[in-house]
Amino acid sequence: MGPGPFLRDAELESILARHLGGRPVHGFRQVGSTMDAAHRLAAEGAPEGALAVAMRQEQGRGRLGRTWASPEGGAYLSLILRPARPPSETPQLALVAGLAAAEAIRDAACLSPSIRWPNDLLVNGKKLGGILAEGRWPKADGQGGLRPPASGLRPHVVIGIGINVSTDPAHLPEGSTSLAAEGASRVSREELIAGLCRRFDAWYDGWTRQGFAPVREALRPWIGLFGHPIQLTAGSEQLQGTAQDLDEQGRLVVRLDSGILRAFEAGEVTLLRSREGT
Ligand code: BTN
Repeated sequence: MGPGPFLRDAELESILARHLGGRPVHGFRQVGSTMDAAHRLAAEGAPEGALAVAMRQEQGRGRLGRTWASPEGGAYLSLILRPARPPSETPQLALVAGLAAAEAIRDAACLSPSIRWPNDLLVNGKKLGGILAEGRWPKADGQGGLRPPASGLRPHVVIGIGINVSTDPAHLPEGSTSLAAEGASRVSREELIAGLCRRFDAWYDGWTRQGFAPVREALRPWIGLFGHPIQLTAGSEQLQGTAQDLDEQGRLVVRLDSGILRAFEAGEVTLLRSREGT
């Protein structure tokens, strides 16, 4: 990979390589976004499991076209996958990654984040991390613009994960936190990334063989929404209701205030205080 915004970092790569076994890893001192680095690597034929990791990002991106503040002190990684399951199921991979990240944080920091569906990691109500999945999803007509993969490889999906590790929350958007700010100041970023990869590999393997059902079971306890009143923004709609469950495809099932039960594929959830008596 050439110069420009992609500044590879041999030291970071060798530290990560020690933690990550044989996984191909591309480490960057600084990068625009690890998502772009990973897409580029995938287009060049990088295998499933290859990882792009940066110490900071100049143009980190989040969901819904937002930016992701990426100063030094965070774990910023993008994982290249070439899923064997039907493309219609690949959005579930963001939930697989959220589960793996929550478990890895618990293992490394003894903190138990909650997952705000679909893929925010929260501690004490503040945002500790987030997941971004990018791929070419198929269209309903099955065409989907999926290009025939070069050199016989399956089409790729990139899963991006950002976790604030030792970052000072003063350098993050309001409402954010880091592991250090929550009292876990001794967490090694590289060990966290390695633990996350191990957890992800195990769940991804299960998902590939058995589908979403085992992930759904494991994920439920991490989602602090069920039974609670929520506000949900889905596209141009703003709705209120009570979060009920995750369905077998990973959609959030909500009993809307109108009484209708509806499943959402994507959206932005805010937990409302109990509306009793209001
Ligand atoms: C979100 O909560 O909106 C998702 C944030 C995802 C951030 C990660 S950091 C590593 C990867 N590179 C990016 O530019 N974004 C993702």
